[in-house]
Amino acid sequence: MSELPEPTVAVIVVAAGSGTRLGAGIAKAFVGLGDRTILESSLDGVFGMVEPAQVVLVVPADRVGEAQTIARGAAGRAVDYVSVVAGGDSRQESVARGLATLWPSVRTVLVHDAARALTPSALFDAVVAFVERTGWGAVPGLAVADTIKRIDDEGHVLETVDRSTLAAVQTPQGFPRAALIEAYRAADREYTDDAALYASAGHQVATVPGEALAFKITTPWDAERAEQVIAKRTATGADLKPSHPAPGAAAPAAPLDIRTGIGIDVHAFAADAPLWLAGLHWPDQPGLSGHSDGDPVAHAIVDALLSAAGLGDIGSVFGTDDPRFAGAHGEVFLAACIERLAEAGFVPVNVAVQIVGNRPRFSARRLEAEALLTGLVGAPVSVAATTSDALGFTGRGEGVTAVATALIRRS
Ligand code: CTP
Ligand code: MG
Repeated sequence: MSELPEPTVAVIVVAAGSGTRLGAGIAKAFVGLGDRTILESSLDGVFGMVEPAQVVLVVPADRVGEAQTIARGAAGRAVDYVSVVAGGDSRQESVARGLATLWPSVRTVLVHDAARALTPSALFDAVVAFVERTGWGAVPGLAVADTIKRIDDEGHVLETVDRSTLAAVQTPQGFPRAALIEAYRAADREYTDDAALYASAGHQVATVPGEALAFKITTPWDAERAEQVIAKRTATGADLKPSHPAPGAAAPAAPLDIRTGIGIDVHAFAADAPLWLAGLHWPDQPGLSGHSDGDPVAHAIVDALLSAAGLGDIGSVFGTDDPRFAGAHGEVFLAACIERLAEAGFVPVNVAVQIVGNRPRFSARRLEAEALLTGLVGAPVSVAATTSDALGFTGRGEGVTAVATALIRRS
């Protein structure tokens, strides 16, 4: 470990499953993906983290030696930070074995499925930052796209579940070390993920914006999708390697084709209109007026994305007189805007929004709004809200302002 600092973060990469549903005949993490294994791909994200982390690979008992060779190759200068242990019969047991090897300096623990082989480093960094800032557990969550039905044993539909209250969660999931260890000790049954086990011990968990690329390779169809992503990256020369160098390594000179944009929108309160803000409906709140649904957050995001791509602004692209957009919700504009960007050869990297206004009280629904907008934009969207200290039109409660910045890159 010599010259490297003591890590305060650890990542446990669970890779001890058999991969029954993938059906490759060998342990899933050792199945080929492009010209490497699923495990090697998943380590790109881990070793690209900004902060150096202790990395524990949990693999089938008969694969420990092979995994050590893979880990050494992937870790580069961070080789002393990596260890390999044999897993257990269940995922939970595998995680427990990883937890048993944590170093004393570690304060924040991430648990990650090796099967989420394409998870970007930025998601690991975001989970660490959230846990360190809040002291809560953190799970990446994506809005659910399909309509969800509750059914009985015979497949009869009982009801439609309100999907706006649901999130599809991924890994890495992050937790304060001491509370996670105590929750694992207290667990008396199998849980479907670490967050459920952690919450069962009475601890708080929140979602952070998830990432489409963090999908889990479960079936042959998922593996094919991952192969396609890798093949496309190889063909376009996009860098598969971590965006951040391993600790102590020289930064690669990657071509940088990214653009930033900014957008701002203002709508006035109108007592008889329903309130739509940040893609959400706010029942029993005075609404905002506008040709569409008057959602300044959605409109500022669209303007920021269009501005980054040099494609004009929401008025010139979508036409405020166009009857198709009368009363339209943010998702209509966002979907059309992402399409325009794609036609111009761009994809969003992230979006940050600042709301200025007295009403509604945004904090209670911030995570819900972020998950929804992240799903619509296809990249992390963060939303903050503030008042203007009783100054100006927002301070007098006459309307709401939203300012958005967007980062996009060549697809
Ligand atoms: N896992 C593990 N130890 C186990 C079971 C699962 O470390 N005893 C890991 C897997 O390697 C995987 C992650 O947990 O990275 C998520 O599990 P899953 O996708 O279900 O993988 P498998 O259990 O390998 O697949 P299957 O359920 O199809 O057999
Ligand atoms: Mg499994």
